[in-house]
This record gives sequence, structure tokens and C-alpha cells, in this order.
Amino acid sequence: MALVVVLIGFTLLSAAGLAGFSASDAARADEPEPQEVSLQPTSQTTAPHAAASPEEAAAIAAGDVLFKGNCAQCHAVNEQVVGPALAGISKRRPVSWLIPWVKNSSKVVASGDDYAVALFNKFSKQQMPSFALSDKEITSILVYIKSQEGSVAAPAVAMASE
Ligand code: HEC
Repeated sequence: MALVVVLIGFTLLSAAGLAGFSASDAARADEPEPQEVSLQPTSQTTAPHAAASPEEAAAIAAGDVLFKGNCAQCHAVNEQVVGPALAGISKRRPVSWLIPWVKNSSKVVASGDDYAVALFNKFSKQQMPSFALSDKEITSILVYIKSQEGSVAAPAVAMASE
């Protein structure tokens, strides 16, 4: 009986010891961690970048084909051709602007959208054709453009509001 009591006492003590140990461990974990260093490049000078996921790789591949078939006659990603260089376009314009633009740019210009009107005037009122592409197809073109971006060219049109 005495042995059992001693054993229980011992077990309790070591359990308390363990609890004490893990408590101080947890306290240590609360201390501020050294700042995590990001390995992501912060500049836009590294390109082209690899796809992060199979979905992204598939979108890039689809966008590549669509871009070459529909856009490359007038656009390059990193230099101006007939139309502006498209590098950085996803930062210049929201997707909610880009999709209607690609579907029917004249309609966006006609709507009086400041950016569209300024761009249209800058490019000598040369109309970009309308494309019967789906939202998904246009998004894949945007993903492809992003994957090909070198150093991001200065925006074709700088808007005071941005
Ligand atoms: C026949 C030439 C032509 C083709 C083909 C063309 N574009 Fe354009 N694009 C232009 C021109 C010119 C502009 C400048 C705006 C204007 O004049 O209407 C422009 C502007 C743009 C802009 C706005 C750029 C900025 O800096 O804000 C985007 C985005 C764009 N085009 C995407 C596309 C995509 C995507 C395709 C293919 C699906 C495409 N374009 C095909 C001529 C073309």
C-alpha cells in the first residue's frame, strides 16, 4: 500500500514537473520570433517565373495559346508594339475592367471611362478589336502575361487618381 502511495506521489510529481516544463516552453513560444525573411523577390525584375500550382501552369499554357492567336499581332508583354506593353496590366487595371475591355474596348471607351479614353487617344484612336473570349479565357491570358513579365514598363497612361 505504502509503495502504491509513493508511486502515485512520484507520478504526480513528475506530471507536475512535466506540466511545469511545458508551461515554460509555451511561455518561450510567446516571445517574439525573429522576423521572417521573405525569399520572394520584391522587385519585378525576375522573369519569367515558374507556375506555383498545376492550375496556374494550365492557365499559363492556355493563355499562351490564346495570346499568340489573338493578341500577339499587336501586343508584346514587355514592349510596346501596335498596342501598349501588357506587363503589369493586372496592377494597372482591375480584372473587372480588363474583361469588358478585351471583350469590347470601344464600348469601354464610349462609356467615358477616363483611363480608356486617355489610352485610346494616346494610341492615335486606334481601335483594338473585340474578342468573343470567355471570362476564363481572358483570365488565363492575364495569368500568362503575368508569367512573362520582365521589368514592368511604365504605364502607358498615368492617371492622377491612381
Ligand atoms: C489590332 C491590334 C490589337 C489586337 C489584336 C489586340 N489589341 Fe489590345 N490594344 C490595342 C491598342 C491599339 C490598344 C490601346 C488602346 C486603344 O487604342 O484602344 C490596346 C490596349 C490594350 C489593353 C490596355 C493596356 C493598358 O496599358 O492599359 C489591354 C489590357 C489589351 N489591349 C489587351 C489585349 C488582349 C488581351 C488582346 C488579345 C485577346 C489584345 N489586346 C489584342 C491593339 C490591339
